[in-house]
Amino acid sequence: MKIGILGSGIVGQTLASGFIQHSNQVKVGTSNPGKLNDWLKNAGSDASVGSFEDATKFADLVVLAVKGAAALDVLKKAGSSNLKGKTIIDATNPIAETAPVNGVLQFFTNINHSLMEDLQSKYPEANFVKCFSCVGSALMVNPDFNGQKPTMFIAGNNDKAKKEVKSILDNFGWDVEDMGSAEAARAIEPLCILWCIPGFRENRWTHAFKLLKK
Ligand SMILES: NC(=O)c1ccc[n+]([C@@H]2O[C@H](COP(=O)([O-])OP(=O)(O)OC[C@H]3O[C@@H](n4cnc5c(N)ncnc54)[C@H](OP(=O)(O)O)[C@@H]3O)[C@@H](O)[C@H]2O)c1
Repeated sequence: MKIGILGSGIVGQTLASGFIQHSNQVKVGTSNPGKLNDWLKNAGSDASVGSFEDATKFADLVVLAVKGAAALDVLKKAGSSNLKGKTIIDATNPIAETAPVNGVLQFFTNINHSLMEDLQSKYPEANFVKCFSCVGSALMVNPDFNGQKPTMFIAGNNDKAKKEVKSILDNFGWDVEDMGSAEAARAIEPLCILWCIPGFRENRWTHAFKLLKK
């Protein structure tokens, strides 16, 4: 597939490399192409860099991996006609500028409304799927927990888009739990707060969530 990654940070670069490793072509979108010079040098012939609009036009599937507060601005630059009908993997978290309190991050959204619902309602013809937001970038692709697969929680309104994302997650080595419609992002986005607490308090960043079932 052709994957357009909107975001040049650690998440954008990690997922871009992961999608290439899993035999896809990738264009990373940024307003700052120079930031990706080092990444591009080592990324091989399936990698390219362009504007947010270039990456979205190129893509069969889009990954949104920008700062949460910039997500709407970046989607505007991507262009609504380029997003139309596409699956958008939404890895963003609505982290506020204010500092964490005792290791607990602050969000600019509230518990009854998520960032992804905002994005979905502004771009109703795109198919957002919350994914990758509840784990650190180093564990997003081929997470290694001695043979145990961690759980990735996903949510979104379009079943075909979620099926597409589930198949990507299967290849990347995740167990997938579909939590339902876009409103479930209200529960998934705050998992980022929980995930980060051991990191801020004890410098432990190598865990992932697992849903135990019987
Ligand atoms: N870091 C993690 O381990 C992790 C894990 C799970 C989820 N997330 C979420 O994934 C997203 C990306 O995280 P990250 O750590 O890779 O990097 P980040 O620093 O949160 O985001 C970098 C990206 O955001 C864009 N950006 C920042 N400010 C902007 C602004 N004012 N206007 C337009 N674009 C702006 C940058 O654009 P340019 O490319 O133009 O510079 C860049 O592409 C975030 O929402 C984060 O919460 C992060």
